[in-house]
Amino acid sequence: MESKEWYYRLGDQTFMVSTKPELLSHDFIQASFSDPIMYWAKPISSENLRIMLDNSCLLGLYLKSPDPLPPSESTAENLVSPAAPLQPPFMFTQIGMARLVTDYMTLAFLTDVFVVPEHQGKGLGKWMIQCVKKLTDAMPELRRVMFMAKNAPHAVKFYEELLDAKMHDQERGKVVFMSSRDPEVDVLS
Ligand SMILES: CC(C)(COP(=O)(O)OP(=O)(O)OC[C@H]1O[C@@H](n2cnc3c(N)ncnc32)[C@H](O)[C@@H]1OP(=O)(O)O)[C@@H](O)C(=O)NCCC(=O)NCCS
Repeated sequence: MESKEWYYRLGDQTFMVSTKPELLSHDFIQASFSDPIMYWAKPISSENLRIMLDNSCLLGLYLKSPDPLPPSESTAENLVSPAAPLQPPFMFTQIGMARLVTDYMTLAFLTDVFVVPEHQGKGLGKWMIQCVKKLTDAMPELRRVMFMAKNAPHAVKFYEELLDAKMHDQERGKVVFMSSRDPEVDVLS
């Protein structure tokens, strides 16, 4: 699938979400997988990480430095791709991610949603999930987006609101979510 970028300006900081695999920091992903905050993941070998990335759509969340976007591009409208050309990769520091395991057509499984603690609470997690939704909404034959989350009110609210998802099942402190373009679709189809 053609790669996508979105930009978001917050004060004097510019953030980017990109699906370009070449921008991803494998070191960042491995460090995140070994962080207890991503309690569901663990570090994997470099070779297995490469295979995982080759078979996923990983949205990287980056802090752009130090060159800010021109004022005309620094509005809330930055939820869509701007006209600005992509800067060289060294201009971006990865600070988060969200991963879709998908056929880009009918189904997507969302996992590994993470923003580093120092950038949490700024709206970046919500923005990143809005970018995820833009990708899944563009899938021509989409039946379902599925994911699991902590069974906690803030997590449930987060995904229900942003992905228009409904809680489908619960087990061992986790909830299983599904969102569907067609509300009439059978949950088991
Ligand atoms: C979940 C997470 C990605 C949210 O990113 P963020 O940039 O802090 O999110 P935002 O600033 O856009 O929004 C914060 C909102 O997310 C909600 N939220 C959802 N899940 C959360 C979580 N696990 N931890 C903290 N806040 C969470 C908060 O309640 C808050 O809601 P509010 O705005 O209504 O008060 C981030 O907290 C994180 O990486 N947590 C650790 C990993 C994780 O738990 N991932 C999700 C697995 S289900």
